[in-house]
This record gives sequence, structure tokens and C-alpha cells, in this order.
Amino acid sequence: MPKGNTRSNLKELERALIVGVQIAGQPALLSMDDSLEELSVLARTAGLEVVGGTSQQLEKPNPKTLIGKGKVEEIQALADELNVSVILFDDELSPRHQRELEKVFGDNRRVVDRTALILDIFAQHASTHEGALQVELAQYEYRLPRLTRAWTHLARQGGGGGGRSGVGGVGLRGPGETQLEVDRREIGRKIAKLKQDLEKVSARRGRYRAQRKRARLPVIALVGYTNAGKSTLLNALAGAEVYVADQLFATLDPTTRKVDLPGGREALFTDTVGFIQKLPTTLVEAFKATLEEIQEADLLLHVVDTTHPNVHEQAEAVLQTLTEIEADHIPILTVLNKIDRLADPDAAREALQDFEDAVAVSALRRQGLDELLAAISHKLYEALAPVEVLLPYQEGALIALFHEQGKVDRIEHTRSGVHIQGRIPGRMLARYSVFATRGVPAAEDE
Ligand code: GTP
Repeated sequence: MPKGNTRSNLKELERALIVGVQIAGQPALLSMDDSLEELSVLARTAGLEVVGGTSQQLEKPNPKTLIGKGKVEEIQALADELNVSVILFDDELSPRHQRELEKVFGDNRRVVDRTALILDIFAQHASTHEGALQVELAQYEYRLPRLTRAWTHLARQGGGGGGRSGVGGVGLRGPGETQLEVDRREIGRKIAKLKQDLEKVSARRGRYRAQRKRARLPVIALVGYTNAGKSTLLNALAGAEVYVADQLFATLDPTTRKVDLPGGREALFTDTVGFIQKLPTTLVEAFKATLEEIQEADLLLHVVDTTHPNVHEQAEAVLQTLTEIEADHIPILTVLNKIDRLADPDAAREALQDFEDAVAVSALRRQGLDELLAAISHKLYEALAPVEVLLPYQEGALIALFHEQGKVDRIEHTRSGVHIQGRIPGRMLARYSVFATRGVPAAEDE
């Protein structure tokens, strides 16, 4: 049971109908069925019971209701028959689509989209002040263009508990729903205030990171699709008690632990929020501070649930998000997790071939962890990766570090800095990446 998620015990689950829409020409990572299956798991996590579903392929979206008129009628009939109170769309609805759909589906049914659902789950699971602020900001930004009759979460958050569990951020719950009059200016002010607060938290976090840097311990961030097993892996590596649940997005706030590497070295491992396809952009925006933990890591451990039928699509979604948050320059080691669940031991070997730099483990059974730590150590300290950088003269420390710890193959002093071609240990790659050149000859620079 995740932190704070007790309301499904307290109340009868609300019945929901899920709707998938595929618009021609719009790229989709998962098939419609798989995406709807994932949505059902998300819905369960949020305390909804999915009792039926439907989907539609469209040449182009209907400007008013997204789905066609016939589909609207079909959903209406199905919703009556199945007695559902929530119609749940697998994609983010534009404010207009949402308004129109709410109009047609009537007053006692709510129209909720994937984004609102994810925000609701995040609101339940945010356990730190920063996590709560981030979710609250994302919720307000999502709400602002959608202000209509049923935005009850604002009223419930009025007490200042913002974004905490049990708030029911998207107003999924019916009882107590009040008509709420919150004008846009008020929300605008709240957004500005939350941003200010988050900046302060972010500055504090930045100072903490700077301290860690001075301690010179490499930082390794665990990233992965939700439920891949990041927290379990961190527990297994550090003997830490990080919250683990067979639930999506159980971990929301970064947790950092010190772990011994082979050869008497140490590193800091940070567990971060899980990724998911169609991760709401408002959320990615709001979670910038948390995601900075990833951006500033020396190495990423990409934890993958090897046994998931969509393992490759999930891995792709993670890589896409890393690009989106500008963390794709950091070296990655893939961890193929949950191999204890593979019926065929050869399947692990086969899976390894699909990923460039990978180690197979079972975080739960603590198998393969020594190999993983050895691979991390190798990647950080022994393997030298080729780089070509133009270091400005004021970056004297980086120039010196390259000479000390790396191997210089070619060096040239230009007007704008020192142009070095050579190799450096993996743990240093991320720090040099902003100065990387793509083989531009130094002479052209003059
Ligand atoms: P989020 O918080 O959603 O990001 O999840 P997470 O990646 O931190 O996953 P977590 O560690 O919470 O694990 C999710 C589920 O997978 C839990 O039920 C774990 O017990 C299970 N699990 C994790 N690792 C393994 C493993 O090696 N083998 C098996 N069989 N199950 C595992």
C-alpha cells in the first residue's frame, strides 16, 4: 500500500470507462491496447475501477469533442449500461475538448484525462515539502486553462496541504464536491508564489549538490520506467529502506544513499521519480528541481523490467524523457532487472544483446549485484571514453583535470580556449559535455 493511499479502502471504488484515441500520423510508442492496459493500471493506482473501454482511430480530431459524434453516443450508452461515473481518456484533452465532453456527458459524470490521473497519483505520493510543491504547481498549471464548474481540488487544497496525499488532486472523488469560484488571477498568483518557493528549495538543493561535489563522490542516478524496480535496487545495493510497492510512482522524491564500490571507493546513488510514456509536460516542468538530480549525475543506471512485454517501448520512453530534460549527455549503464522471473535463463543473455552496455540482475533476489557494482566501477574509473572539447581558459581546473586523469591525444591552444582530443574516465564525461565539439578543427576557430 503506497503512502497515504488508503482512500480506496475507505470508499467504494468509482467506476470508470476508458477511451483511447489514435489520430492518423501522430506517433505512438505503445499500441492502443497496451497503452489502455497501462492506463487501467494507472486508474487502479488512483483508486478507480475500470469496468469497460473503447477506442477510436481518427483521420483528424473532431474540433469540438475530439472523438466523433457516433463514438460520443456509443460511450454515453455504454456509460449508462455500466453505471460509470468517470470517463477516462488515455491522452491529454485540450481545454476545449474537455469542456465539450463534460457538456455532453452530463453533470454526474466526470471527464478525466491521463494527465489529470497522473497528477492525482503524484499528489497522493508526494511525501516531502518539495514534492508537494511541485505537484501543486503542475496541478494549477494544468487547471488554469480548464477552469469550469468542477474544480474541487482547489477548494480542498485551500487549507494549505497542497498536493498532499488524499487531496484527490483531480477531483476524482465525488462527495463534497462544491462549485468553486476561483478566478484566474488568484490561480496566477498561486502559481507565481509556488514558483518562488520552488526556486528557494532548488537553490538549497543546489548548495547541497555543490557540497557533494566538493566531497568528490560520483553521483549515480537510477532512472527507469515506473515499477521497473529502482527502489528495490537501491535497497539491495545500499541496504536502505526505500519505499517499495507494486504500484506506479511509489517513489516521488529523490532519495540518496552512499554505496561501497569495489576497490574501496564510494558513490552516491539517487533514486528518482519513475518515467512513463506521455508524461505530462506540466509535470516535467514542475519537477525540474528533482530532475536536476538526474542532469547533474555522473552516471545513469537505467533500470529496466526485463520481463515486461513492452520492455523496449518502455526503455525508449525513458530515453526520450532523458532527452527532453537534457540529460542525454550522461553515460548510461542499463540494468536488466527482474531476471528471476524469466522462465528461460537464456532469455537474459538474449536481452543483454539488445542493449549496448547492460548487466542482468534481480534486485529482489540480490542476484548479479556484484557484477553490477563492478560494471559501475569500471565505467566510472577504468574505461576511458573518447572526447573532443574546447575548454575556455577560465576553465583551468577542467584543463588540469584532463591532464591528471585522462589521456591527451592532441592539444591545441586557440584564441577561444584549449582544444583537446583525448579520453577521460566515464565519471568525468558529464562535466565535459557542455564543452564538447564535434571534431571542428581548432584552426577554424581562429
Ligand atoms: P516507481 O516508484 O513507480 O518508480 O517504481 P520503482 O522503479 O522504484 O519500483 P519498485 O522498486 O517500487 O518495484 C516495483 C515492483 O517490482 C515491486 O513489487 C517490487 O517488489 C518488484 N520488483 C523489483 N525488483 C524485482 C526483481 O528483481 N524481481 C521481481 N520478481 N520483482 C521485483
